[in-house]
Amino acid sequence: MSRSQRRVASPRVVCIADFRPIAYRQVPKSVFDYLDGGAEGEVTLRENCRVFEDVTFRPRHAVAVSGSDLHTRVLGFDLSLPFLLAPVGYSRMMHPSGEVAAARAAGKAGTAYILSTISGHKLEDVKAASSGPVFYQLYLMGGRGAAEAGIARARAAGFSALVVTIDTPVAGIRERDFRNGMKELLSGGPLQKIPFLPQILSRPGWVARFLMDGGLPMLPNVVVPGRGPMPLTDVAASLAESTVTWAALRWVREVWQGPIVVKGVLTGEDARRAIDEGAAAISVSNHGGRQLDCVPAALCALPEVVKAVNGQIEVWMDGGIRRGTDIIKAICLGARAVLCGRAYAYGLAAAGEAGVNRAIEILRTDLDRTLKLLGCSSLSALDRSYVNVPKNWEI
Ligand SMILES: Cc1cc2nc3c(=O)[nH]c(=O)nc-3n(C[C@H](O)[C@H](O)[C@H](O)COP(=O)(O)O)c2cc1C
Repeated sequence: MSRSQRRVASPRVVCIADFRPIAYRQVPKSVFDYLDGGAEGEVTLRENCRVFEDVTFRPRHAVAVSGSDLHTRVLGFDLSLPFLLAPVGYSRMMHPSGEVAAARAAGKAGTAYILSTISGHKLEDVKAASSGPVFYQLYLMGGRGAAEAGIARARAAGFSALVVTIDTPVAGIRERDFRNGMKELLSGGPLQKIPFLPQILSRPGWVARFLMDGGLPMLPNVVVPGRGPMPLTDVAASLAESTVTWAALRWVREVWQGPIVVKGVLTGEDARRAIDEGAAAISVSNHGGRQLDCVPAALCALPEVVKAVNGQIEVWMDGGIRRGTDIIKAICLGARAVLCGRAYAYGLAAAGEAGVNRAIEILRTDLDRTLKLLGCSSLSALDRSYVNVPKNWEI
């Protein structure tokens, strides 16, 4: 067992927040801030977590609760847990095992993993690592030719759904990435890199792992016809050239011919539009506060979307989930399931697969305990009557 694995297994790591300082010590500041940070003033990033404090519980006490059933069903799959692992781009930069480790950990826990288009590992290897369902998150980077090839590979490899992210017409401005010289480190010449090297060299363990892993990988799942795999350095420019419009979503549907989840819905109007366009599910999401700053926290947008959807398709949410109580609150407000992003990515950066396993286990025990304390034996029995919600939230 490595030192970082021992650290995350220590009894002192009791909640997701405890992974954060361990992750900070394991990876360079530029990598940590890429994971931890948000867009512009980080207003939405902070709000995503803070608003969970505005929702309080209404428990049923003096009730004998024999067990706690944490199962949920998404897209026809029975999951042992009501949270899925969200797509997190560049996971391989956080730890060489990256996306493969996260997929394996999700499968072992009986839940699903969503692989980002911006993956450092081949989608076939990620699928092979997981014993559970795996979905593919799609950006149209590299144009429709590259997307079509990616979709065909995802289908052949056995991915069960496409998760199409609609909130990224351009990459959000994450100011920490600029200050840390992410652009210079990825694509600058040697002289431009120099000012930013000390923070990299201060993490020799990470540098050794990174170099042994082959350094900066190409994107093996974005293969541009006639040009080959896209280099990491082209991601931002390519995102801006390949906006996912509703018309593009129609095209994706025709090519894929399977279930589609629309990720990045924040209003009732977009939810209705996603239903009209044939989505099987939507995720109420602001991309973890990494895209347009000053949009509402995902939890605040959830009631409006649930009302607009009116039970027609599954509603998921993501943004700010750090505890089991957060997950329960989202379910009480109508979410079928939630996606966790940073909650497992801190674990990955802290200790690779062992960190992801531990993060999942912490959330699982949180859920089990919270349900029992609420006096409820099953997630499926949760509803609005278990929470108090601020009066000004649209219901
Ligand atoms: C480092 C990082 C990279 C991300 N990359 C992607 C991505 O490639 N595609 C995508 O749809 N969402 C991406 N997201 C957003 C997550 O899927 C999810 O919406 C968000 O993390 C939820 O917020 P949370 O981190 O507070 O749980 C990323 C999030 C983080 C933190």
